[in-house]
Amino acid sequence: MSPAIRQKFVVGNWKMYTNAADARRLAKAVVDGMGAQERVSVTLCPPFPYLALVGEILEGSRVALGAQNLYPEKEGPFTGEVSPTMLLELGCKYVILGHSERRHKLGESDAFVNQKVRVALAAGLDVILCVGETLEQRNANQTEALLDRQLTCGLADVPADTLTRLSIAYEPVWAIGNLEHHATPQQAEEAHTVIRRRFAQMFGKKSAQALAIQYGGSVKPDNAAALFCRHGVDGALIGGASLIADQFLAIVRAGINASQTEEKSSSMPQLTKPVA
Ligand code: 13P
Repeated sequence: MSPAIRQKFVVGNWKMYTNAADARRLAKAVVDGMGAQERVSVTLCPPFPYLALVGEILEGSRVALGAQNLYPEKEGPFTGEVSPTMLLELGCKYVILGHSERRHKLGESDAFVNQKVRVALAAGLDVILCVGETLEQRNANQTEALLDRQLTCGLADVPADTLTRLSIAYEPVWAIGNLEHHATPQQAEEAHTVIRRRFAQMFGKKSAQALAIQYGGSVKPDNAAALFCRHGVDGALIGGASLIADQFLAIVRAGINASQTEEKSSSMPQLTKPVA
């Protein structure tokens, strides 16, 4: 598959952190720190109760709003749940689905994740689908099979005309919030290659070339540059470091630098034959 330049995509997943005042401060600091750059697409995903207030701060800026989950029904007797229409009304463009914390701590199945993906896309939301193996699965050489299963099940019956609104986040479970074990850039690149290959089998090469694949799992300012310069690593889904504006913005800057380098090298004349 020939290399394609895809816009880097950096997303802050605030998980169940912040309070109203912190959410306001953090969102404002990100908007102010972003400036007018267009190289990296940036999204913030606060907890549900702060979507409206963060949305107000992001309005008119280059930072998009995303949610961390949804329930796959338009409305109904689903106490405590939030529908795609409600998220759209609050100004959400994106929704994170299939996060490992929901799969492993809340028991979400591949089939349920798939239902959410299809309903979210049909409603008009852009989906960030998370996939990734546990340490036991990696140690048992099951990473590829696991990614294959999560993609095959998670993307079953997704209409081809919605694929441009879908991105994948590769988040190895063992690397999330873990400063001792985080994926090396090489491991991230290998997993992204597996994901893109499987996606190409399912939806064709053209869709796979256009697909943004983010890496997630202890991305920090000091490892972001090494990850972003890897082939097929199109951005990051960030937990802990997205709660500190300076760290998040430093990761965005690493994305901008990596994009500039990619642009430069793609505009250099390509050698078709090895130099003797
Ligand atoms: P950390 O960046 O805290 O490891 O979290 C990653 C993650 O789960 C993002 O969705």
